Parts: sequence; structure tokens; C-alpha cells
Amino acid sequence: MTMPHVERVPLSVTVNGKPYDLEIEPRLLLVDLLRDELHLTGTHVGCDSSYCGACTVLLDGRSVKSCTVLAVQAHGGELTTVEGLATNDELHPVQKAFAENHGLQCGYCTPGLLLSTIDLLSRHPHPSDAQIRKAIAGNTCRCTGYQNILKAIRAAAQAHGPR
Ligand code: FES
Ligand code: FES
Repeated sequence: MTMPHVERVPLSVTVNGKPYDLEIEPRLLLVDLLRDELHLTGTHVGCDSSYCGACTVLLDGRSVKSCTVLAVQAHGGELTTVEGLATNDELHPVQKAFAENHGLQCGYCTPGLLLSTIDLLSRHPHPSDAQIRKAIAGNTCRCTGYQNILKAIRAAAQAHGPR
């Protein structure tokens, strides 16, 4: 069976500070752009239903579930994925806080949680527990029971603040 020809469209996007000019199918999901076209596989896929938050990235500084966004919607925008957090082998302060407070076990949910946390701290540098819980309500973790994640986010806010 021959597949129907799909017209490709131009996409200009900056990912982790690096500009890309691409041609993509209009139906391409943002998560598939990141993982399959740009090989940034730190953005995970944990469901098929916009539930788990493993695919969370920042688009123009705000967290989005990249499995629910078309890549073309990011045209002209700036994306940050987990690969863009550490600099010169130095972990991002939020990554450090998660490591120091055992805020991860298998790590599958961690990239999404880190980016949701960075979004939260950019809006609320000193969040209440209620604000933390609300900010990560869309990020499912099957391992930790969330207590150490809460500790890690509190520590990130106190010790390091947003970056
Ligand atoms: S892969 Fe689960 S919300 Fe996107
Ligand atoms: S650490 Fe395993 S799913 Fe969160």
C-alpha cells in the first residue's frame, strides 16, 4: 500500500539554545520531533493519553506536555529539554536538589518533573506546598511516593532558587 504524500512545512525552532531550520510533516508531535528527529531522548513517553507528564518540556519558559503539542506550534519558539539543563558538566540546581534529596528512583519521570519544577520556580521562587503539589499534579511518579520529590523541590527553592 502506498502512503499518501504529506506536504512538509518549514519549522524554525531553538532547542537548548541551538537554532534549527527543519522541514516536517504538519502532523508531527513535538515529542516525536525531539526524540526522533533531534535524538533528544531524555524527553520520555510514558502514556498515550496526556496523563503522565514524562514528556514535559519548556516552550518559551512554560511547561508543556510535548505529546499534546504539535511541533508546528513551537514554530519560532524556544524549547528546553532535560539535555539543556546541565552546563559544563555542572548539574542545574534543580537537578542537584533532586539528586541530594533522593527525588528519583528509576528516573523515568524525572526529566518532566525537573522541567515542571523549573517552570514553578520561575513563577513562584518560594512556593508553598500547595503550589508545589499543584505544579507537579500532571507528573506521575510510580516509584517514589512523592515525599522525596516534595523535599527536593523545597530544597531547590531554598538552596538554589530558580535559574
Ligand atoms: S507521554 Fe504521558 S503525558 Fe505525554
Ligand atoms: S522515579 Fe520511577 S517513575 Fe518516578
